[in-house]
Amino acid sequence: MISDKELLDLALKQKENAYAPYSGFKVGSALLTEDNKVFLGSNVENASFGATSCAERNAVFNAVSNGSLKIKTIAIASDSKDFIYPCGICRQVISEFSSKNTRIICSNSSGYFEVYNPEELLPKAFGEKEKLNGF
Ligand code: THU
Repeated sequence: MISDKELLDLALKQKENAYAPYSGFKVGSALLTEDNKVFLGSNVENASFGATSCAERNAVFNAVSNGSLKIKTIAIASDSKDFIYPCGICRQVISEFSSKNTRIICSNSSGYFEVYNPEELLPKAFGEKEKLNGF
């Protein structure tokens, strides 16, 4: 079974594939699914800034489009000395494929990390009753 530290190391490595020429802010994400598969994502920016997609969302969409719909743990890494937390849109996307036991690992560049559950990062999430693919 992959450890939190190993998942975070994968997120760190994945950060190097970020396409972030506009912000210069590279982000990597690695997630473990309930069926014990690992999926990766990095942020991909666009000249039309609004078309940018975050690392976490790309990791989740990578998992879901490969048939793994249940997130056990998702790790996020950047070069920032401050902890990185998912943006609002990513919190909503993570929530769609999470259970109350899903773990969200937020890290800083010193390698420290904090672990949250979806409810802590997105209280009273829209879709708790509506979502079809969550668990
Ligand atoms: N970004 C992420 O990939 N994840 C986050 O949690 C926050 C922000 C990206 C989006 C954009 O490419 C860059 O970081 C600056 O906002």
